[in-house]
Amino acid sequence: MKLAFAFAAVLLLGACPRHDNTKTIEPANTKHDAQNRLLPDEDSGIGMLPPAAPVPAPAAGLPAAPDQAFVTPAAVALGELLFYEPRLSSTGKLSCASCHDPEHGYAGASPQPTALGKPNLRRAPTLVNLAWHKELGWDGRYASVVAQLAPHVRGQLGDELAAGVTRIAGVPIYRAHFERVGGAPSPELATTALAAFTLTRFAGDSPWDRAERKPDALPDVKAGYALFTGRAQCSVCHTPPLYTDLRYHRLGLVALHDEGRGRVDAKELGAFKTPTLRGATKRTGFFHDGSATTLDAAIDWHLTGGIGQGASRMMIDPALIKLSLTPAERAQLGAFVRALTAPIESSPPPVLP
Ligand code: HEC
Ligand code: HEC
Repeated sequence: MKLAFAFAAVLLLGACPRHDNTKTIEPANTKHDAQNRLLPDEDSGIGMLPPAAPVPAPAAGLPAAPDQAFVTPAAVALGELLFYEPRLSSTGKLSCASCHDPEHGYAGASPQPTALGKPNLRRAPTLVNLAWHKELGWDGRYASVVAQLAPHVRGQLGDELAAGVTRIAGVPIYRAHFERVGGAPSPELATTALAAFTLTRFAGDSPWDRAERKPDALPDVKAGYALFTGRAQCSVCHTPPLYTDLRYHRLGLVALHDEGRGRVDAKELGAFKTPTLRGATKRTGFFHDGSATTLDAAIDWHLTGGIGQGASRMMIDPALIKLSLTPAERAQLGAFVRALTAPIESSPPPVLP
């Protein structure tokens, strides 16, 4: 009887991976000294890793990076591997990169189902320039990337981060990476590493950043900038130099029932965080619902005053104004927005250990 009870308890624990949340996962043969430090023999494996690249610095045109001590070269290097690692998902098929596609500005085209097959209401937003965000998610309900990761991994990858870490903890290269970040494989170090990688995806050094201070460069783009900051008042919300005010606005996107920022503050029902326009040319879907499939469609949505889904004017942010531009002006505005994206340099995904 007692045995059956113990057996059931083990089964229950196994079925409820949340219990593992804070546990450090180590193979049984790991050697430690009296202070519980890993012995510097071949077990640490750090020597088998190439040196970690320096932490990426914010590109030209961006403010200085906020001071975040946990963002180290070793953490970014491990974070990159984990970002592409499908073994973190319950099915072994989905990774962060599946939804936040690095080839397309770390963003998704349209809402994609989670690893457990549940539909998402929102598309994966871009992850560039998050270092300056004080609130995460389209509705800003998380206070930091670190705070967001545990629920996000559970919801999107369909498993506890601890369970995913257990699946890779036996891989020597991964053990060496974790050791270099701070110890044996654990969900805490995985969180640090994923956050460090995510917070160093910078989009800057765009053609506009180069032209801004040169009086004669790119005249059409300059004319577009004058419209953007003037008559079209885009910069009220897409404020330079990040081209987002990091606040929430209603653009009349009401086709789906999504309370948006209303989840946090009832007064802001239906409002969503202003996305940065830096790097926007790389994206293949626009708005939180992915309802605009081209950059031009997203721009035109604004110019018609956000009424395309039947929202009443009362519901729409007063800063979003209906505006008639001549074809030449419309082209200049588009040229300016496009000039906020650096030419595509593709970096191949890392080889996973
Ligand atoms: C199945 C798709 C999917 C996967 C997989 C996924 N995400 Fe997301 N991600 C989303 C969606 C959708 C949102 C928007 C959530 C919201 O607004 O509630 C989001 C939002 C975010 C944000 C907030 C960005 C912002 O602008 O505030 C961060 C950071 C993030 N994800 C990082 C990650 C990391 C790191 C991983 C891997 C551990 C990951 N995501 C895996 C779909 C995904
Ligand atoms: C009232 C604030 C506001 C103004 C003014 C505004 N925008 Fe936006 N913009 C937003 C918000 C908020 C979103 C995201 C809306 C959503 O997904 O629900 C957005 C989304 C976008 C997007 C899609 C980006 C993406 O990744 O989904 C583009 C492109 C864009 N705006 C360009 C412009 C241009 C060009 C102008 C000027 C004509 C402009 N915006 C004026 C607030 C504003």
